[in-house]
Amino acid sequence: MMDTSNEVAVRCRGVTKSFGVGAACTQALRGVDLDVPPGELVMLVGPSGCGKTTLISVIAGIMTPDEGQCTLFGRDVSSLDKRELSRLRGQTIGFVFQAFNLVPTLSVAQNVAVPLLINGVPRPLALERARECLSDVGLGDRCEAKPLDLSGGQQQRVAIARAVVHRPRLVVCDEPTSALDHKTGASIMEMLKSLVVGDGKSLIIVTHDQRIFNYADRMAHMDDGRIESVTHAAT
Ligand SMILES: Nc1ncnc2c1ncn2[C@@H]1O[C@H](COP(=O)(O)OP(=O)(O)OP(=O)(O)O)[C@@H](O)[C@H]1O
Ligand SMILES: [Mg+2]
Repeated sequence: MMDTSNEVAVRCRGVTKSFGVGAACTQALRGVDLDVPPGELVMLVGPSGCGKTTLISVIAGIMTPDEGQCTLFGRDVSSLDKRELSRLRGQTIGFVFQAFNLVPTLSVAQNVAVPLLINGVPRPLALERARECLSDVGLGDRCEAKPLDLSGGQQQRVAIARAVVHRPRLVVCDEPTSALDHKTGASIMEMLKSLVVGDGKSLIIVTHDQRIFNYADRMAHMDDGRIESVTHAAT
């Protein structure tokens, strides 16, 4: 397949996804078309239940679409076998889940080190990088804590550190500032954006948080399982 990595980081065409069957069937995605250019921060906005989490899960290869195509840096995700997909995911994508998904039995630093360990980084180095990354999100002094001993906002920052520690080409965040005050949210956005700018990396952020809209290069407006419009940020 042609490598279009210089033109587009993520390309979705006609992506559909439904859950359940018969009367209980919910059509979460009804034919999504979306392009995310490299080096851009695209915010995905829309009402609760419109399909945002489902869409980014498909983009990140966590869910398989029913129909349509999703390419990541020129590679058709659906053409990959399980091993190729998990390798692509492990190396290329960082994901911040809406519910954080931290491992409660691991320390904060161990949680953040997971993507590095998956990619074969030796444990001492992985933990060292995890600690550096935690200090970037203002948690350098909580590395040995367990996630559940932290506040919601602190857990959210651990989840963000884990998503970026391996310097992935695509970072996908589901409501990354929902539990943060304005000042912390702004510094997290600065940190996320500094990873992307000038480096050809891409960021997709699902958010309701109007306070961070000014960080977007583009806003993708979603409603009822479709992208209705994509607007460029005012400069
Ligand atoms: N695992 C699932 N099983 C059944 N239905 C699901 C599942 N996941 C999502 N849905 C349904 O699909 C639709 C889209 O859900 P999704 O989580 O993508 O919405 P969202 O835009 O992220 O909403 P929110 O802003 O509240 O997080 C909803 O109607 C939801 O109930
Ligand atoms: Mg959601």
